[in-house]
Amino acid sequence: MSTADRDSQSIPAPDHLTLPAIAEKKQRGERIVMVTAYDAPSARLADQAGVDIVFVGDSAANNVLGYDGTTPISMEEMVVLARAARRTTKRAFFLVDMPLGSFQVSDEEAVRNAVRLVKEAGADAVKLEGGGSSVSRARAIVAAGIPVMGHIGLTPQSATMLGGHKAQGRTAAKARQLFADAQMLQSAGCFAIVLEAVPQRVSARITQALRIPTIGIGAGVDCDGQVLVWHDLLGVNEGPMPRFVKQYAHLAEETRTALETYAAEVRAGTFPAREHAFLIPADELALFESELDSGVLMGDGSGDWL
Ligand code: KIV
Repeated sequence: MSTADRDSQSIPAPDHLTLPAIAEKKQRGERIVMVTAYDAPSARLADQAGVDIVFVGDSAANNVLGYDGTTPISMEEMVVLARAARRTTKRAFFLVDMPLGSFQVSDEEAVRNAVRLVKEAGADAVKLEGGGSSVSRARAIVAAGIPVMGHIGLTPQSATMLGGHKAQGRTAAKARQLFADAQMLQSAGCFAIVLEAVPQRVSARITQALRIPTIGIGAGVDCDGQVLVWHDLLGVNEGPMPRFVKQYAHLAEETRTALETYAAEVRAGTFPAREHAFLIPADELALFESELDSGVLMGDGSGDWL
């Protein structure tokens, strides 16, 4: 194992969620909770909160790297972010997204990049977008021994082809296509499928028809689980949100207020206070000051300190 491989591995907790445990949740009717996390502190908090699946999505592109959308993010960038999140994910199942360009070209390249996410970033499984040729990619990756989560409906990597970031499956023909894609991804060996921006009644029928869990984002309450993006759910992102986002906190507002208070206190000289400062014993300070006063610590006049 190379240093890079070793470094990416955190020691999973004994209660680390396994693939069979996720499958059993559907059988038991227990909903699956998934959230994106793109760094060590957020993955730690999600893990501690008891989230089932910590997911390093390619939405890191716009949420942490400042790109306009998800398409520019590279494998290298995904690996760096995922390695950080992996180190603090102990109990949750750890899922990493395959970015645009990492699986579209061929099954071989898809397998090579999925292996990289497992070896270098410690992924328990990978997620890839799309039906069609993605079915063959999913089958090849599963055949290589790596679990795959599918993702259909609104697939941001191909948003241009879909006519923008809008709900999918709103005609009978399109709903039928989604239903067929979901069945094919299940047959290819996917262990779960994300349904994004799909009408609730359509995702309900897909969910009923599949043995594997569906994870919804903008796909209604009848999915087997839900996923939200960290920055949307916690209000790190502000401004207009997709209809399906619920904000459980307003961290942008709180962060800005905290930073404004910090800046004001620094400028007013009220931070740091005595309790934030280090102390020196009185006798040591007296000695130091007497040395200073006697001039022994002063320079020799050339500007150099002795
Ligand atoms: O990258 C991401 O955040 C996603 C979710 C929307 C499922 O793929």
